[in-house]
Amino acid sequence: MTAPSSPELERALSLLRAGEAIGLPTETVYGLAADALRSEATARIFAIKGRPTNHPLILHLADASWLDDYVADVPESARLLARAFWPGPLTLLLKRGERVPTTATGGLDTVAVRVPNHPVALEVLRAFGRPLAAPSANRFGSVSPTTREHVLADLGSDVPLVLDGGPCEVGLESTIVDLTRESPRLVRPGGISALELERVLGQAVLPADGTERAPGTLPSHYAPRARVVLVAPNELWSAVRATSARVGVLCQERPPSGLAPHVEVLELGPESGALAHDLYASLRTLDERGVELIFTTLPPPDGIGAAIADRLARAAAPRPEA
Ligand code: TXA
Ligand code: MG
Repeated sequence: MTAPSSPELERALSLLRAGEAIGLPTETVYGLAADALRSEATARIFAIKGRPTNHPLILHLADASWLDDYVADVPESARLLARAFWPGPLTLLLKRGERVPTTATGGLDTVAVRVPNHPVALEVLRAFGRPLAAPSANRFGSVSPTTREHVLADLGSDVPLVLDGGPCEVGLESTIVDLTRESPRLVRPGGISALELERVLGQAVLPADGTERAPGTLPSHYAPRARVVLVAPNELWSAVRATSARVGVLCQERPPSGLAPHVEVLELGPESGALAHDLYASLRTLDERGVELIFTTLPPPDGIGAAIADRLARAAAPRPEA
């Protein structure tokens, strides 16, 4: 992956210094990044996304040595996880340091931090020298962007600059683990599995218990325009055949022959990593093809399969506005 040219990097830095938000590639999804320490800058993020301002943002750091500057009482568990998984798709929920304004944390006394594993994001962070708040660079509630084109399609002229870093390697948002409670809790499954966290921590990581307030944990989120329908694997093709609606299918196996011409099939292969990588782009593609329904099955819940299942379940959940 190529680093930004120096004029592009200079433009990114001058926009960030002016309190603007820019599109930034990471290994998970593209972020809408702004200076986390300035309230006017994070206000730009909320305004562009149309996101409620009480939803906390993730702070992106250049490396783990920044932890003590923005987090209070860094626990040993955080240092262990940072050493094992940073830079990478893991966000740690910790006690907010005094320098972090509550406008970035949705008014909370906790702060979410991660070091992204992408050369462009890291170069911008190092040169800027301050943490960047960056939620996914899409309108609130829709599918996260995994290419620069997705960001432009969603946010268009509302963002002055979107740096290009190619398609995101992981394709799903980072794992979030809460280290502020008695036991670590998995707030959002992602590219690092609970099992991997447990191996490093040497202790159980409990599931979220619903007391967390977080937009990615709303029942309905990450939703394409089409309605997503989860089907048991052995019923997929009979369900597809039984509907007369314009239907899209996301599947991991070769489709049977003789499907009706109005059925749009995207075959993503048997491997969960590849499915995660292409999931959001595929949902967008099916939306563009104008399907009303998207039929799909859940992968096995191990590894990144748990994160895929989580996002598909949210995409399939009833929507408030529906
Ligand atoms: O992979 C990612 O994490 C991407 C890329 C751009 O880094 N970012 C991302 O940000 O997914 P966003 O804003 O879409 O998700 C932020 C999530 C919230 O949904 C919430 O679950 C959690 O982070 N969060 C952040 N700060 C929190 C806090 N103080 N307490 C509880 N949850 C928090
Ligand atoms: Mg998001």
